[in-house]
Amino acid sequence: MKLRPDLGLTFDDVLLVPKRSSVVSRKQIDLSTWLTPQIQLAIPIVSANMDTVTETEMAIAMARAGGIGILHRFMTVQQQAEMVQRVKRAESFVVENPLTISPTATLEEARQKMLQADIGGLVVTDSQGTLLGIITTRDVLLAPNLEAKVEQAMTPRERLIVAAKDEPLSVSRQKLYEHRIEKLPLVDENDRVVGLVTAQDIIKLHEHPQATKDSKGRLRVGAAVGANPADLERARACVAAEADVLVVDVAHGHLEIVIRMVQQLKQEFPAIPVIAGNVATAEGVHDLNMAGADAVKVGVGSGSICITRIVTGFGVPQLTAIADCAEAGIALGVPIIADGGIRNSGDITKALAAGASTVMLGSLLSGTKESPGATIFRNGQNYKVVRGMASLTANIARRKIDRQGEVDWEEWSDIVPEGVEAVVPYRGTLNEVLHQLLGGLRSGMSYCGATTLAELSEKAEFIRITRSSLIESGVHDVTVL
Ligand code: XMP
Repeated sequence: MKLRPDLGLTFDDVLLVPKRSSVVSRKQIDLSTWLTPQIQLAIPIVSANMDTVTETEMAIAMARAGGIGILHRFMTVQQQAEMVQRVKRAESFVVENPLTISPTATLEEARQKMLQADIGGLVVTDSQGTLLGIITTRDVLLAPNLEAKVEQAMTPRERLIVAAKDEPLSVSRQKLYEHRIEKLPLVDENDRVVGLVTAQDIIKLHEHPQATKDSKGRLRVGAAVGANPADLERARACVAAEADVLVVDVAHGHLEIVIRMVQQLKQEFPAIPVIAGNVATAEGVHDLNMAGADAVKVGVGSGSICITRIVTGFGVPQLTAIADCAEAGIALGVPIIADGGIRNSGDITKALAAGASTVMLGSLLSGTKESPGATIFRNGQNYKVVRGMASLTANIARRKIDRQGEVDWEEWSDIVPEGVEAVVPYRGTLNEVLHQLLGGLRSGMSYCGATTLAELSEKAEFIRITRSSLIESGVHDVTVL
């Protein structure tokens, strides 16, 4: 037995000491950071791979805001790969493989295809890929007979404006404007479709200048996988769907099967960044990095919906875990993702000041419009559900997916949950929540005299505080209206 001499600290145990600062405007502050050495983000925020936090809508909104979303893995392989595809299709400079449909398909088939892919139009081609027309939602939505053929409702080839495949984006943009059209198919010399430029994509370039994008202008997205042999298949499907980063996410990430999984993934997909976790020690960071992890996720039992520390007795208070892991991470060149326990912008500032490159948020984002799941109305207020991925109901849901069938009632009592089901108040859109969180972070950086996150962690000085200081830090001795 060994007892560490130092006290483990978490966010409420410390404050950051104000420093001389020349920062006069929050606009001077640059929040850009690295998720992994290959992926830069404009803001240090990652949405958690939980089934009440990140699915397609959240991942799209996070990437547009300049962060990134990690799609959870508590669904079938096919569902997860489809979600990756949806994010990758949400916008791009050029849609490289636009979805097509045959002229003899029915309008109902066209409608279904557009609905499933969440897009507004399909290119109509023959079996050789030759352009025959375009059909859009407008052509099918009010159609009196959905059994009619696509060729009866599409805009035919002779009425289409097209562009050559290597035409510059500025020329395509001009064509879209001049002809007041929304879609511009790109064709080769044989009139075969090789791409599509949409007005929406060009508009989005201006709407979200900070968006996290790949070299083709598509939003970036991460996909979580487990550490079992079957998860290799999940990883393959997500890579085939063009996920930008894989996250091997296990509650205790310092497991040998996690190390082996990271090695296998790096061997099979050397070009894909791999994040691994969760750990709470420098040794954990070291071992995962030696296996090939490009970034490491830190936090054991710190999450809002976690009961791991109560059930198992294990964990390291989160600020100490971040500081220990970041020290190792900086020496190894491995970015640290502080995951779990962040409740407000002050906690984000502290986590980044302690050396994390990004923070992963679960319950803080679970109350947004973009999180999966319905809003529920209770006692005059709207709420959304958040649950731990090791909670009782999440365990049951996972077993149902694994077996593709029901789970007996007797099995419920077999489960030893390490997470809970909960509700959080509905907090509006992701952008509204991010506005407050990032505003607080920027303000915090100005107290430190830091204009970059690197400067924040260099200059940061923490002071441990007492319980009475914590009371002083909150609103006190007044009745809040
Ligand atoms: P926050 O505090 O942001 O934490 O809601 C999100 C992180 O919590 C972890 N997580 C769990 N940890 N049991 C745990 O011990 C669980 O059931 C559970 N579910 C999620 C995870 O790291 C997440 O990102």
